[in-house]
Amino acid sequence: MNILPIEWKGDHVVILDQQQLPHSTSYEKLKTIEQVWDSITYLKVRGAPAIGIVAAFGLVLWAQSKQSNTLELFLDEFHKQGDFLASSRPTAVNLFWALDRMVRKVDTALTVEEAKELALQEALAIQAEDEETCRKIGEYGYDLFDDGDTLLTICNAGGIATARYGTALAPFYIANERGTTLHAYACETRPVLQGARLTAWELQQIGVDVTLITDNMAAHVLKTKDIAAVIVGADRIAANGDAANKIGTYGLALLAKAHDVPFYVAAPFSTIDLETTSGEDIPIEERPAEEVTHLSGNAVAPIGTKVFNPAFDVTPYELITGIITERGVISGNYVEQLKTFANKTTPVTIK
Ligand code: MRU
Repeated sequence: MNILPIEWKGDHVVILDQQQLPHSTSYEKLKTIEQVWDSITYLKVRGAPAIGIVAAFGLVLWAQSKQSNTLELFLDEFHKQGDFLASSRPTAVNLFWALDRMVRKVDTALTVEEAKELALQEALAIQAEDEETCRKIGEYGYDLFDDGDTLLTICNAGGIATARYGTALAPFYIANERGTTLHAYACETRPVLQGARLTAWELQQIGVDVTLITDNMAAHVLKTKDIAAVIVGADRIAANGDAANKIGTYGLALLAKAHDVPFYVAAPFSTIDLETTSGEDIPIEERPAEEVTHLSGNAVAPIGTKVFNPAFDVTPYELITGIITERGVISGNYVEQLKTFANKTTPVTIK
């Protein structure tokens, strides 16, 4: 797929506006850090790795616009701008991981000019590494399935949610390249419809056979459609293996267990947060009521209806068959295995 979700253009970032999909493939220029903040908060750029990448470029935009006379002032303000971007969304840890990486790199600069250059190089590296990482996730994931298998997914954990390839959708890209076939069932993913608007669109773009279902059809599909596995992305994986992902994922994991279907979480190490002990400590974003009461701007509930709108839920580690990462598939004792894999320093080679 030649559609790039985020592209650095020297003095601005071009993003694919995911809010416009599937009706139009439109791109937007972001020239300020405030525009980057908006693009994350209002879901023009969404998906854990993509949020981290665009935030890194947000700091580059700020750095380039700044005429600081002292390095100390520049770095102090750079940290504050990082905190500002960190306030855009709370759950996906890739955002904080990328911002932290940017700040640590820029802190090593000896001059303001060097700080600006380091910021740019680090943001480009975060993006390039994510592409390589997602490809490896795709290769490890692909090996778990057989030619002709059908996988069920939710939300969009595809190429447009990352630098390229995606996480849960990466095995579909690899299958395509190798001339084999994986079929997909995509849950529509109410309330924001990432499954219907984004996953169905993305898989169609690359010629994958995708069948869309509403979320409440999942049990029936798992019972009747010979689903080989459920595969989902993640926004944050705690040290014990509990995984936060799009609302509805936990329900799918329970259904998969009930039907004896393997349940895989595909995610890069930038999504694994060993500082967070368990899923109970993961902050769950609550989004505006209108996402539930309205569909495409039209009210589907009485005015004033009380709404609860958590954007994510947490799947307990016991329900997860394996976590597919760029360093291999992790299963068993997640507390031990996540630590072991975290220390594996498999270098990510950029071609
Ligand atoms: O609210 P969103 O659309 O940003 O939620 C995205 C998800 O839950 C994805 O599954 C997750 O970020 C992984 S993207 C590779």
